[in-house]
Amino acid sequence: MNLVVVGAQWGDEGKGKMVDYFSEDADLVVRFSGGANAGHTIKVEDKTFAVHLIPAGIISPGKTVVLGNGMVIDPASMFEELAKIASQGIDWEGRVVVSDRAHLVLPGYKSEDRTIDEHRARPIGTTGRGIGVAYGKKASRDGVRVADLWDPVVWNALSKSDRDWLEPFKERLASMKVNLADFMMANQDKRILLEGAQGALLDLDHGTYPYVSSGISTSAGAAIGASIGPRRIDKCLGVLKAYQTRVGNGPFPTEMVDGNDVVLADKLRELGHEYGVTTGRPRRIGFLDLVALKYSGWVNSLDGFILSHLNLYDGFESLSVCTAYELDGEEIDYFPSNIADLERVKPVLQTLPGWEGKVADARTWEDMPGGAQKVVEFIEEFTGVPVHGYSVGPLRKETFMKEEPWTVS
Ligand code: IMP
Repeated sequence: MNLVVVGAQWGDEGKGKMVDYFSEDADLVVRFSGGANAGHTIKVEDKTFAVHLIPAGIISPGKTVVLGNGMVIDPASMFEELAKIASQGIDWEGRVVVSDRAHLVLPGYKSEDRTIDEHRARPIGTTGRGIGVAYGKKASRDGVRVADLWDPVVWNALSKSDRDWLEPFKERLASMKVNLADFMMANQDKRILLEGAQGALLDLDHGTYPYVSSGISTSAGAAIGASIGPRRIDKCLGVLKAYQTRVGNGPFPTEMVDGNDVVLADKLRELGHEYGVTTGRPRRIGFLDLVALKYSGWVNSLDGFILSHLNLYDGFESLSVCTAYELDGEEIDYFPSNIADLERVKPVLQTLPGWEGKVADARTWEDMPGGAQKVVEFIEEFTGVPVHGYSVGPLRKETFMKEEPWTVS
């Protein structure tokens, strides 16, 4: 069975933690998109792991993880990350497989990425990891793939400094690289977890273009970026946070920017540790945007959501969610494609009552405070997507499912 997990908003929803959780019952974890721009934090008991390129499934003992062809890989970052997790007691040798069709991020790409952004009329606020340059070269057919390290035509066309830089990684990658299509065919009867990066609203096609990343962050990307094709995807789950965050520039209709809203944003930022794992930048905070979420549910064909961070509202008298936008005096119920419209819309907020008791203490749906259950039902009804599971704190044990993830819907 193939289970896809993606971010339903602008990334940082808690995907890493959920992938780690689902990995326990998976045979294989394949990351299908993005690069070292992503940052996944996983807490297991008293240890905190931060991964960027390596699939979050690596923390589960004995699991094989795959860096798919949809990824762009900086080999220096990859081996640094592996060394770091090895120093934290994770034995990764023999468990990391790399698609030989994945593209490489070469040293010059990072500064090029930053320079391009500085000169843009509308800077995106890139993480500066060379991701846009690598995907750009891929699209213009000038990229360098893992397989190309052994292709004399491509290898000899590289600059001497790139060859010198790549040489030490070549030997190490030789034992990790696979033809992913063959590998997935051979593993087709296994339980496979397909891990996305970023979030639907940062997707190159469906996100708030041009303020997006350059990979495919929606679930369809799993078909391409993991070499399996669309008919083999059995289930798609989207992780969402009970409020909205965004790092970098771009429209954010429900951003908390006025008066008391800023106070609330600061409170949620501190409670939720909303600072970028990759860049340390404070994340922008907003009200949960159900208009965007409904759109995300559709473009990802989500079977279910995993709701995270609802526990942050424990003790609040109420919480507000966005149920429509106002555009030039008219109410609209769709997520606009035009960026100027998206920058101009005002959120129409609906206030929902808070609850007695703690979501943080819940370990089953029945444990959830009644008021929190009502909020969940409101989200489900509005978006048409049921909530299948909950993350109510940073630890593995603070997670529970209402629906079994490894069954075909
Ligand atoms: P890039 O992918 O580094 O070019 O960044 C493009 C945009 O996507 C910037 O606004 C980044 O802040 C954002 N971005 C990239 N990766 C992530 C992520 O993993 N979480 C949240 N935002 C991200």
